[in-house]
Amino acid sequence: MILSGNFENQRRFFDLFSKSYHLMEFFTFGLANRTRKRFLRVLNPSNDGIVCDLMCGNGNNIGILKKDFRCKRIIGVDVSEGMIRVARNRFGEEDVFYFTENALSSSVPSDHCDFVSCSFGLKTLQPEQRVLLISEVYRILKPSGTFVFMELSKPSGFVSVFWKFYFSFFLPLMARLFSYPFVKRKYLADSISDFGSIFSEETLYRSVFPKSRFFRWYGGIVTGVSGMKS
Ligand SMILES: C[S@@+](CC[C@H](N)C(=O)[O-])C[C@H]1O[C@@H](n2cnc3c(N)ncnc32)[C@H](O)[C@@H]1O
Repeated sequence: MILSGNFENQRRFFDLFSKSYHLMEFFTFGLANRTRKRFLRVLNPSNDGIVCDLMCGNGNNIGILKKDFRCKRIIGVDVSEGMIRVARNRFGEEDVFYFTENALSSSVPSDHCDFVSCSFGLKTLQPEQRVLLISEVYRILKPSGTFVFMELSKPSGFVSVFWKFYFSFFLPLMARLFSYPFVKRKYLADSISDFGSIFSEETLYRSVFPKSRFFRWYGGIVTGVSGMKS
């Protein structure tokens, strides 16, 4: 994948993408946000706990944390100033602190968070960066704090036919028809194929969070993991 892992490229790419990122909701028929809600229900944060959303993008999870879970102490971390600007415009400063920083080495204090979430960001990282991300999650969580990650993944079997149609054909076609940048050239299909699935890194998660629980949704189109700092 062209972008994966290069910090400056990531920043530039997502700065440009930030103005139109919300249109992904339209191209996923609202399913992306419904999946974020489902994933945050796995985390089930209390409203007085500190929740850190890593790679928060334009703040979709922040909106759900505020509205559905009434969270009052949210931290959003993202490397892209553009994404953080959109998140701040959407959800304001009340109850939310924004960090325009690298999630792999952020200034979020150690043992600080009750809950950590990260959605749809893992595929933008190289495998060795995901190792750093997992240890960073361990560092910022309080003892007994919990985390949840999820990512688009490559399914097998019958669902892979639908997956291929949607990511390799439908999405790039829609992007061309609506002059929507970035996903025109199978960007998502390629980055998801490179990533595979969260299950391929099960050993890594278990080495840091021994009681990790893995989930596979929509026939494997989304995979995820949750766990607790012991
Ligand atoms: C595909 S978006 C996902 C955004 C959001 N979590 C969501 O559910 O829509 C990936 C985000 O990760 C951010 N990102 C990429 N590399 C990063 C890094 N090293 N540190 C912090 N954010 C990063 C990008 O700026 C982008 O906003």
